[in-house]
Amino acid sequence: MTVSEATKFTQTEMRKRPLVAMEQVSKVFSNGTLALSGMSLNVESGEFISLLGPSGCGKSTALRIIAGLGGASSGRIDWPSSRINAKGLPEGDISFVFQEPTLLPWKTVFGNVYLPLKLQGISKAVAHEQIMETLATVGLKDFAEAYPRELSGGMKMRVSIARALVTRPKLLLMDEPFAALDEITRQKLNDDVLRLWQTTGITVIFVTHSVYESAYLSNRIVVMKARPGRVHTDFPLETSGERDPLYRSSEEYREVCEKVSRSLIEAMGRQEVH
Ligand SMILES: Nc1ncnc2c1ncn2[C@@H]1O[C@H](COP(=O)(O)OP(=O)(O)O)[C@@H](O)[C@H]1O
Ligand SMILES: [Mg+2]
Repeated sequence: MTVSEATKFTQTEMRKRPLVAMEQVSKVFSNGTLALSGMSLNVESGEFISLLGPSGCGKSTALRIIAGLGGASSGRIDWPSSRINAKGLPEGDISFVFQEPTLLPWKTVFGNVYLPLKLQGISKAVAHEQIMETLATVGLKDFAEAYPRELSGGMKMRVSIARALVTRPKLLLMDEPFAALDEITRQKLNDDVLRLWQTTGITVIFVTHSVYESAYLSNRIVVMKARPGRVHTDFPLETSGERDPLYRSSEEYREVCEKVSRSLIEAMGRQEVH
């Protein structure tokens, strides 16, 4: 094999290596609850995956274990294409967005978004451009000096997303980020997240219990089964056109939603779908 062939081979192999691999992960909480059992999932770079399932099926538990916020009871999480730190995590490469924006009320929008960079020891002056650029990507360039109390729920969530993106992570974990927002704001933020995903090439794992949201956003949907949580169906979602507000009223979207709903009902067994 020539050197160039060897390089090509390595590059092909690299591309095939997932960003993160969950292998047979189980989680038993101290009160004996078996939240996950034998959950395996490979996430490729650049994917937008939705983890979809009913409340209590272990979505948050799975996401927290991936983020290193809670250990697995058995099984493993691997980061085959990243350099990992002593805690087994790819340092600085993962960001988390929760349902609550959790902003510091005494800090401005700028100050809140600066926090993760401050923790990395970066001065405000050096961070300034990066923060303003990130605020622009979420449409908040003109609100840098505003305080959280002056913002709507949707704008607070945008700040939370900017704070997650400011460190330029490879992987964005989102745990039902829009569940508390009104429908119109939620749809607007869905479009913004899609645009961010398309323009940055970031990998997203998005937890939701909404069939409609997962079908609109994802290029792959993983439907989870409950008690204990594990993967029920894992299907790619290629659509012919752009995901935009028109897509919401298309026949294709309706068919995807129906397919995903059926899978969710199957996953839930005899329980009812809400
Ligand atoms: N810290 C905890 N201690 C005990 N049980 C927990 C804890 N966190 C979650 N659980 C239980 O684990 C299961 C999965 O929870 P969770 O991952 O939050 O589900 P989801 O995010 O899908 O709603 C649920 O039955 C929940 O009650
Ligand atoms: Mg949850």
